[in-house]
Amino acid sequence: MENCDKKAKRYTVTTALPYANGPVHIGHLAGVYVPADTFVRYLRLKGKEVLFVGGSDEHGVPITIKAEKEGVTPQDVVDRYHKIIKDSFEELGMSYDIYSRTSSDTHHKTAAAFFKKLYDDGKFVEKETEQFFDPERNKFLSDRYIMGTCPKCGNDRAYGDQCEKCGSSLSPDELINPHSTISGAQLVKKPTKHWYLPLEQYENWLREWILEGHKEWKPNVYGQVKSWLDSGLQPRAVTRDLDWGVPVPLDEASGKVLYVWFDAPIGYISNTIEYCEKNGGDWEKWWKNPDTQLVHFIGKDNIVFHCIIFPCMLKAYGDGYILPENVPANEFLNLENDKISTSRNWAVWLHEYLTDFPGKQDVLRYVLTANAPETKDNNFTWKDFQDRNNNELLAIFGNFVNRTLVLTHKFYGGIVPAAENLDESDKETIAEMNEYPAKIGKLIEIYKFREALSELMNLARLGNVYLTKNEPWKQIKTNPERVATVMNISLQIVAKLALLSEPFLPFSAKKLQDMLNIKQNGWNDAEKTTLIEAGHTVNQPTLLFEKIEDAAIEAQMKKLEDAKKTNELNAWKPAETKPTVSFDDFGKVDIRVGTVLECAKVPKADKLLQFLIDDGAEKRTIVSGIAKYYTEPEKLVGKQVCFIANFAPRKLKGIESQGMILSAEDRDGRLVLITPSDLVAAGCSVG
Ligand code: MF3
Ligand code: ZN
Repeated sequence: MENCDKKAKRYTVTTALPYANGPVHIGHLAGVYVPADTFVRYLRLKGKEVLFVGGSDEHGVPITIKAEKEGVTPQDVVDRYHKIIKDSFEELGMSYDIYSRTSSDTHHKTAAAFFKKLYDDGKFVEKETEQFFDPERNKFLSDRYIMGTCPKCGNDRAYGDQCEKCGSSLSPDELINPHSTISGAQLVKKPTKHWYLPLEQYENWLREWILEGHKEWKPNVYGQVKSWLDSGLQPRAVTRDLDWGVPVPLDEASGKVLYVWFDAPIGYISNTIEYCEKNGGDWEKWWKNPDTQLVHFIGKDNIVFHCIIFPCMLKAYGDGYILPENVPANEFLNLENDKISTSRNWAVWLHEYLTDFPGKQDVLRYVLTANAPETKDNNFTWKDFQDRNNNELLAIFGNFVNRTLVLTHKFYGGIVPAAENLDESDKETIAEMNEYPAKIGKLIEIYKFREALSELMNLARLGNVYLTKNEPWKQIKTNPERVATVMNISLQIVAKLALLSEPFLPFSAKKLQDMLNIKQNGWNDAEKTTLIEAGHTVNQPTLLFEKIEDAAIEAQMKKLEDAKKTNELNAWKPAETKPTVSFDDFGKVDIRVGTVLECAKVPKADKLLQFLIDDGAEKRTIVSGIAKYYTEPEKLVGKQVCFIANFAPRKLKGIESQGMILSAEDRDGRLVLITPSDLVAAGCSVG
């Protein structure tokens, strides 16, 4: 394992700033937030100086679109979601030193000043381009505000960046008949000036710094950087014609703001400054001191911004800014074998999880770490969630802790017995247990959180095996001295678990320490054999984990199914109109009104109802496939329905059906009878 000893004394650890246009879901957590918090908690236990920085990303077009849709201001939108996100992170136990937001004053000032220095230093190139302009609203439109006909599939509601019908990604120039989604106006092209960061000038430097200097970065990250560099970098616009964001601090740039991907990463710096303003201390030590290591936790869609664009911004700025030491980006997490999607509501939302599973933060943290998409996309299923809780946390970890503490109380009234006369197997167990702190620590240091967690569970397994092999519950009668040793060693394993589980399961670690009646020491202390002295009194065990029942899992599955159904309904569009028919053709169909005389289910046919209809001249029998939607057919007696009177008779379940009753098919497939809005004479014709 190269690069495994964390030698730096100080760490600035950041997590991608989530967009404040929706709550966070398990995909965000598994990819970014849970690993980052695990890493930070570990570093703190190692005695490192750490600043853990988070915040909400409150600019960007999706926020303004959401605001318009809801008829509120963008500030309303970000206020709402910033609170939801911040509160839910807190409840999950994210141990941020600061969680702030990019709409803050400090951020606006910091980001504007950052831009201004680059501008003054001549680091940008200016370019004038022709952009689509809405003459009614008197403003330039970004891609999402432009709608037109898709050149690929003819969909007339394609956006300037994408056609949602055929999935093609588009540029506004490709759209046929582009118009404004805000005013509906035809768009015109007008010249507009923007500032670009000439990334191509940094190519060689990036190659040297990352491709030569950081071969230890995760293959997915390194590979993506390499492919960006190999295909050649282009100048990137860092300003936009928009009215929501950090205003560009130049007189000639009124009505323009910083591009969200320019301002957001500066948010890491702004939030550090805000932290130091509130808590004292020099913010520059976190950003400009070569003894500080900067680590960005992000998802894979953020790699280019954190490995190329933001580093180029820092490099262009100079002034001693450090560059990221590592960017351990993860792949994506799927949910029940389907891509997580905010717009389709195919997600497990953190704030809802916290309500549905109160007190079970560690279970989620555990499952998301055990399934973390570290090297490839991975999948979350509720079944796996239940299994991991019941078969791992409860059956292995919880069970070992519980057995040890219950026996300690039973045999010794909670007073830790002394270990004497160790035999070979005791010595082996002790040697093995003492390897775990280093083993787990090293894995965390190289961002292999899954493996680190599975080693933690191996330590609990070691404890279980040791207890089971020595059977203290049997030996207590025949060999009490031996049992004292076994219980002492088991308690040392529990104490190790209490310490080493803290980065992964902080709530359980705390409970465990309370049970053991000990205070957390540093990570390296865990390498000692004796963490609890003989004679120390431990408390009564409380439940660390509890069984998750099928009903809880079924409720979650139902929630997902409902989301899927709602989606299908929302995605529903009326069928395309059939080919034109002439008046004469239509006239061939004889539609009439009839009165229901009798109605009953057809025996042995789930779908069919048998009607007896008064058609004005006589009574006719019609069989109709609507039984599922009319479960009390007798209630239809007396109602008027429309039917095709000259429909060729046919036999259904042995009954001759003399016509066809008309019904409408709703979006969800439900059939609804068509009835005249007023009572009319039976037999009158419909046309
Ligand atoms: N809001 C972005 C996203 O959710 C992440 C921004 S990270 C930052 O993809 F560095 F720009 F802050
Ligand atoms: Zn299309």
